[in-house]
Amino acid sequence: MADISLLPASAAIDGNDLRIGGCLLTELAAEFGTPAFVIDEQALRDRASRYADAFGARHARSQVHFAVKAFPSASVIRVLADEGLGFDVVGGGELAIALAAGADPAKIVMHGNAKSDRDIEAALAARIGYIVVDGFDDIDRIAALARDRTPVLLRVSPGIDSATHAALATGGKASKFGVPAEQVPDAIARMAAVPAIDLRGLHAHIGSQILNLDQFEAEVAALASVGEFGVYDLGGGLGVRYEQADVAPAIDDYAGRLVAAAHRQLGPDIDLLVEPGRSLVAPTGVTLYRVLTVKQTGRLHVAVDGGMGDNLEPSLYGQRFSPMTVGNWDAPAVLADLVGRHCESGDVITPDVWLASPRVGDLVVVPVTGAYCFTMCNNYNGALKPPVIFCAGGSARLGVRRETYAEWVGREVGLGS
Ligand SMILES: Cc1ncc(COP(=O)(O)O)c(C=O)c1O
Repeated sequence: MADISLLPASAAIDGNDLRIGGCLLTELAAEFGTPAFVIDEQALRDRASRYADAFGARHARSQVHFAVKAFPSASVIRVLADEGLGFDVVGGGELAIALAAGADPAKIVMHGNAKSDRDIEAALAARIGYIVVDGFDDIDRIAALARDRTPVLLRVSPGIDSATHAALATGGKASKFGVPAEQVPDAIARMAAVPAIDLRGLHAHIGSQILNLDQFEAEVAALASVGEFGVYDLGGGLGVRYEQADVAPAIDDYAGRLVAAAHRQLGPDIDLLVEPGRSLVAPTGVTLYRVLTVKQTGRLHVAVDGGMGDNLEPSLYGQRFSPMTVGNWDAPAVLADLVGRHCESGDVITPDVWLASPRVGDLVVVPVTGAYCFTMCNNYNGALKPPVIFCAGGSARLGVRRETYAEWVGREVGLGS
C-alpha cells in the first residue's frame, strides 16, 4: 500500500481515490481544475495551535508569528489569525495582505533588508508591533518618517553558517541580512540619538529548512553575547520532511530546546517571539496536477499541467518532493522524472522518482507544497496562478480562485477594449 505519511494528517486512501479533509481529490479536480493547491484546514489549525501551545506552555510571554512570505494569502492568514497567531511581513505588500485579512496590527512585525520609504510609512501608519531595523539606512528612514515613538527590534547577523542550501541560509557573516555583531554598538548608539526610535530588543533568523536544533541554540548564544534586552525575536527556520527518509524535529522538541536555551542565556524575564513559516504550513498543503503526457526519450518523462509556474523550489534550491499518482496504489512503479509543462529542461518537479503506473489523465499529488509554492507562482509560458482550496469535514471552499487570461493580459496597456 502507498505510503501517505507525507500527506496532511487527514489524508486517507479511499478505493482508487484519496481524501484530504474528507474531500475526494478526483472531485476537487473536477470542480476546481488542476493544478490546484489543496489545504487540509484542520491540519493547518492544529499546527498553529501546536506551535502556540508548545511555546506558551514553556514561556508565558511568547508570541508565534506566521512568516507571511511562506503563504502570502489572506485565506491562510485569516485561519491563522483565528488561531491567535501574529504575523511577520516583509515590506508593504505583505503588510497590506495581512491587514486586509484582518490581522491585528499590534501583532505584526515588519522585516526587510531593503525597505523603501513606502514600506516604513505603511508600517508606521498601521502602528504595527515592531519594525525590524536591518541596517543603518533603516535608522535614517525611521528617523525621517516617524512622528511618534516607534518600537523597533534590531536584526543581528549571528555569524552562523546554517546547514541548509546556500540560498536559504541567512545568518552567515557575509549575509545581506542584519547588522554584523561588531557594528551593533554603533547601530544602538545611532538609534539612541533618535527620539522616535524605541529599541526594545533583538532579532535574528538563521535560515530556512534547518533540521539541526543545535543551530538554533547557537543563534540564542550569539544574541546573548550582544547584550540584555526585553524582547528577542528568534525568527523561523525549522525544517520539515519532504521525502520519506527525511527526519525533522517535532515542533514540541524545537520549542523545548529554544525556550530552554533562551531561559539559560537570555533570562526568563523576556518577550520571546518566533516566526515559523515553512514548518507551520508546508505539511498541510499539497499540489494537485493532471498528467498531460508520458514520454520515453533517454529518460521517462511524466509531464503534468504545472511545474515552474507553481513550484520554484526545485529550481531555486534543488528541493526534492515525493509525488504520487492518485489511485494506482498497487500498480508497478516506474522510475521517472516528474516534469512540468514549461519550456525549460530545468522544469523538473522531482527527478528520478518512483511513480506507480503513470498514465495520461492520471492525477498526481505532490505533498508538502504548503510553503513557498503559492508564494512564487508566476506566469511563465502564460501559466495562470492556481486556486487555493481549503478542505475540512468533507467540504471544500475556495480561498483563492484561479487567475484568468483576462487578468493576465489585462495588465497590458494599449490593447483596446
Ligand atoms: C526574517 C524571517 N523570519 C521568518 C522566516 C520564515 O522562515 P521559515 O519559513 O523557514 O520558517 C524567514 C524566511 O526565511 C525570514 O526571513
